[in-house]
Amino acid sequence: MPTPDLPLEALVDLRRYPLLDPDGAAFAAVVAEAREGLAELGAAELPGFLTEEGLAAVLADAIEVEPLGYRNAGPATAYLALPDQEAPPGHPRRWLGHAAVRAVAWDLFPPSSPLRRLYEWEPMLRFIEQVLDRGTLYRYADPLGGLNLASMGAGDELQWHFDQTDFVVSLAVRDADDGGDFEVVPRIRTADDERYDEVAAVLGGDRSRVVTLGLTPGTLLVFEGRHSLHRVSPIGGATTRLIGLLGYDTAPGTMSSDLLKQLRYGRTEPVAR
Ligand SMILES: [Fe+2]
Repeated sequence: MPTPDLPLEALVDLRRYPLLDPDGAAFAAVVAEAREGLAELGAAELPGFLTEEGLAAVLADAIEVEPLGYRNAGPATAYLALPDQEAPPGHPRRWLGHAAVRAVAWDLFPPSSPLRRLYEWEPMLRFIEQVLDRGTLYRYADPLGGLNLASMGAGDELQWHFDQTDFVVSLAVRDADDGGDFEVVPRIRTADDERYDEVAAVLGGDRSRVVTLGLTPGTLLVFEGRHSLHRVSPIGGATTRLIGLLGYDTAPGTMSSDLLKQLRYGRTEPVAR
């Protein structure tokens, strides 16, 4: 049985990712490589971030809290807004895909949860801050949205979309039996060029520019999804795909809107513990 109180130092592979030695050469090399990934692909994949023991502890904890999650499913657009009925037929802003995911909110993780302790660990925050290189980083103030476990089962998927945040930090915990691939079309749009024709081609099934990220369990991923179209392909099999989502922002005090909370967690207020 994995020990729930495994020290954080045993959770992360500190030989490969020396979070406790931020002034050392090895730390600098890891950060440099991750930044390279962000610059080239908008994604920094850090495989083997968790130790084998650490992954086992995070998985056991995730299986424990998974049933507490709230399932949200329905049609969704690539722009995470309502379909634009003014746009001509076939326009990407009118396209609808399918989204289905179960999310466990931060307030439902017990204090002993290894995923929660990792999220709340200062060296973790400082490491992500270095990788992103966007200035001081803060955890979300949102007691629901700060940390999430996302669980997806048979038939679930996340439609092609652009994120509405600059970056997302996730930790791969368990693969599905089939599908559940994280597929990306890097930098398909820019801040001032929507490139609707290219987006429409991907939504229409063009796979020529699709990159699939490996995301072996235990991998930490820093992903910039505002300009890269991405999706999670439909899942098959009985094993749910589990991912930890670690909410950080470059401004303090980040809260989700009540509308988003209601949609994602089925409530707006944290549970009393
Ligand atoms: Fe996304």
